[in-house]
This record gives sequence, structure tokens and C-alpha cells, in this order.
Amino acid sequence: MANRLTYDDQVVVITGAGNGLGREYAKFFASRGAKVVVNDLGSSFNGKDKEGKGDSRPADRVVKEITDAGGIAVPNYDAVQNGEKIIKTAIDNFGKIDVLINNAGILRDVTLRNMTDADWDIIMDVHVHGAMKPTRAAWPFFKKQRHGKVINTSSSSGLFGNFGQSNYAAAKMALVGFTETLAKEGAKYNIHCNVLAPGAASRLTQTVWAPEMMEVMKPDWVVPLVGVLVHPSCNENGSLFEAAAGHFSKIRWERSKGFLARPDESLTVDLVLQNHSKIVDFSQPEYPKSTADSMALLEKAMALPPSHAASTQTSLTGRVALVTGGGVGLGRAYALLLAKLGAKVVVNDVKHAEKVVEEIRRAGGEAIAVVMSVETGGAVVQAAVKQYNRIDIVVNNAGILGDKAFQNMTEEQWHSVMNVHLRGTYLISKAAWPHMMKQRYGRIVNITSTSGIYGNFGQANYAAAVSLHILNNRSCN
Ligand code: NAI
Repeated sequence: MANRLTYDDQVVVITGAGNGLGREYAKFFASRGAKVVVNDLGSSFNGKDKEGKGDSRPADRVVKEITDAGGIAVPNYDAVQNGEKIIKTAIDNFGKIDVLINNAGILRDVTLRNMTDADWDIIMDVHVHGAMKPTRAAWPFFKKQRHGKVINTSSSSGLFGNFGQSNYAAAKMALVGFTETLAKEGAKYNIHCNVLAPGAASRLTQTVWAPEMMEVMKPDWVVPLVGVLVHPSCNENGSLFEAAAGHFSKIRWERSKGFLARPDESLTVDLVLQNHSKIVDFSQPEYPKSTADSMALLEKAMALPPSHAASTQTSLTGRVALVTGGGVGLGRAYALLLAKLGAKVVVNDVKHAEKVVEEIRRAGGEAIAVVMSVETGGAVVQAAVKQYNRIDIVVNNAGILGDKAFQNMTEEQWHSVMNVHLRGTYLISKAAWPHMMKQRYGRIVNITSTSGIYGNFGQANYAAAVSLHILNNRSCN
């Protein structure tokens, strides 16, 4: 790489560039030769005052700062959910786009119990849909010119969970699976996509950080890493970074060596329980990067002899378990197992739930079917509580696939996967939450996918949606 990085002739689009981090990115790239599109809707930090009406002043101010300093920039005032209009501004004014920094964001901090559906939806809309829309509009230009750089903005809340931020954290984690998928789909066209979890003093952090902290955490200290990642000389792709106040690091998935067992009748819940310490032992870590990395382990497991049957100790007698998408496949298997362990099982699915209930009853277990979509969340949980007066376990398993290469993915295909996986998980968990709080007991298992963890071709929507599941588990405690 050159000693002094410049971006002459590069066109850089930055969303949410009217304030905070986005403003610093815009000024930096313009000061080093780039032509910049300064997008900002002019929203308040929680998106409540303008409700889409917008304010052109933040973007105009930043454009003026840039042009006063001799740089080149144009404003754009569209909401990121209308990303195609933002990219059009770049094409109309500068004839191309080289770099897209999806940075716009708002907060609606509130505990899951008190969260409204509007608080959930607006956060998903701005952060996840609002990153997908400009990226999808830029994609054909990137492909045609055989280069492009995308930065999606995550957060430590997304990576680790944070009290009162289940909506924000879920959205920020969704961007990880989304970006990892785009990195795989874009690699052969020289399109590089990375994720950044920044930390910086801004409107978003001023209510939580002390003044001394605000001084140390200037947005300026995040900018250099973004400058490196989007420079044409950098080949980083599909990676996740943290940057704040002079600290820069890369984050990756770590997998324990784990426990292998032959997949036959000797593989029981008790066997897994007995070997739990091996499953969570990180003394011999591995660093997988794709879904394919798991396949060799499965082959190894198949070659093993049967396990020694462990004595039955696990019991869920007295517990009520809801399994969404329990009519077929994995959901059916979870439902059958939970019933076998003594739980009263609520089998939810849009079809085949009754069949599974019959199977459970024939085997001497107790179950009811709730035939409706998880998108009706509250009604599914109400039916469970009406029958059994409590709900102890939720397995958020319902899911669909709508695989499509990113460029060809329609809004409909995007939203249908998001609505079942992401919104369905939120609705069911939120409805179960007050019961679990009252009982002082609750266990929620959200089903993700290796696609959500590592990204996968043709699954930008699915990977984004199931990444949320990981997070939901971390933020709902
Ligand atoms: P900020 O509030 O200073 O700037 C965000 C900008 O996004 C605002 O100017 C706002 O008007 C704009 N915006 C909001 N909704 C928009 C929409 N629908 N369309 C277009 N523009 C919109 O916030 P900050 O701190 O600079 O945040 C930038 C990004 O970094 C956000 O995605 C945030 O979630 C993320 N982040 C920030 C952290 C921090 O420590 N400041 C920590 C982790 C993540």
C-alpha cells in the first residue's frame, strides 16, 4: 500500500453522513481526492420527530464544509430505505460509484417487555433494509466495472448483545450474515464487503457516556480503518472489525473442538448432556470460515462406532414447550424429543402440526397443535398459555428459504424471509416474555444457520435473518 492513501477519481457514497461518524468519513474521503455523496435524511437520533419528512440541513452543512475546504461533494436527502435514489445521485453527478459506506442509523432503546412493534420495525427498516437497498442498487455498477467496496456498520451491541437493545442488536448482527454472504457473492467480481463495529462519541452515545469518555472517543479515530478497508489496494473481504479511540482489531468465529458421536440411536439427549463440557471447551479452538468447513466433521462422526448408551436422566416433566415450525423436519424432531422428555408440547406450524401431535399422543405424550404463522406471534403464545397456563420453553425454529443471487433478489423475497425468521422470532419471544418473567423461568432457543454465521451464496436475505437469531439469544437475558 502507498504511504499516503488517496482516493483520486473514486466516488464514495456515505449514508447518514450529516452527523457523527458519517460526517467524518465524508470529510476524510473528500480531503483525499474522492468525490463524495453525503446522504442524510436529517433524522433525530431515534427517528421519532421527522417520521420520514426529513431535514436537508445536516447533509447541506457537511457538503458546505467539504466544498469550503476545496473538496467535491453533493448532498442526498433520501431515506436509506430508498437506497436506489442515493446511488442514482452518485451516477447522475459523478457517473459511477466505487465505495458505499452504509452508516445511517438510529436507536430505539427499550427492554423487550416494553418494546412496541413499531420500535422493532423501524430499527430493522433503517439498519438492515436500509443497508440492503443502497447495496443492491450499487451492485450492478460494481459488477460491471469489476470493482466495488462496501462497509456495513455493525455494533458491539450486535456482536455481544446489550441490555435494552434487542432490536438494535438484532439488526446489527443481521448485517454480519448479510455482509459475509455479499463477500462470497462479490469475490469473483472484485467486490469487497466488510463489517465494522465502531465506537465513537455522537448523538447516539451522548446519553450513555460521560463527558470525559465523549472526548476520548472522537469519531476521527474510527475513520483511518475505514480508509484502509475501502482503498483499492486493500483486499480484505468478508471480515469483521472493531475500531474506537485508537483501538483496532479483527473479530472471527471460534469453534470448540467439540464432541463427535455417530448419528444413530445411541446419540441421545443424555449422551450430549454427559459430553457438554467437551462441547464448550475452547482449549483446542478452530476458526471456520464457511459452511463447507463443517462437512468434514459430519463425515468423521458417521465413521465412528455407536456410543455407549447413557442412562436416562434428563426430564422436562411439568414444563410447557412451544416449537414453531414443528410440523416437519427439525421442528418435528424437537417436538417429539421434548414430548419424550415429559414436556407438554405446543406444536406450531402452518401445516402438518396435527400429524406431529398425533405422533406424540400415540407415544403417550401430551401435545396440542396451533396452526398459524409465527407472523401472528402473540396469538400462537396465547393459544399455548390458554391450554397449559404457562410457557417454559420456546424453540424459534420456523423458517423458509428464498434463495436468490443478491442482484436478482426482489423486495418481496427479501421481506418474506425477514418476516418469518426475524420478525416471527421477535413476535413469539416478546409474547412469551411476560409469562417467563412472571414464572421467573424461561428458556428460548433461536435456530440460526451456518449461513447466518459464515454467509452463503444466494442467501443474503436468509443469512441476515438468521444472524439475528444469534443475537436475540444474547440480548434477551
Ligand atoms: P449519528 O446519529 O451521529 O449519525 C447517524 C446519521 O444517520 C444521522 O445524521 C441521521 O440523520 C442519519 N439517518 C438516520 N436514519 C436515516 C435514514 N433512514 N436515512 C438516511 N439517514 C439516516 O450516529 P453515529 O454514532 O455517527 O452512528 C453511525 C453508525 O454507527 C450507525 O449505524 C450506528 O448504529 C453505528 N454505531 C455507532 C456507534 C457509536 O459509538 N457512535 C457504536 C456502534 C455502532
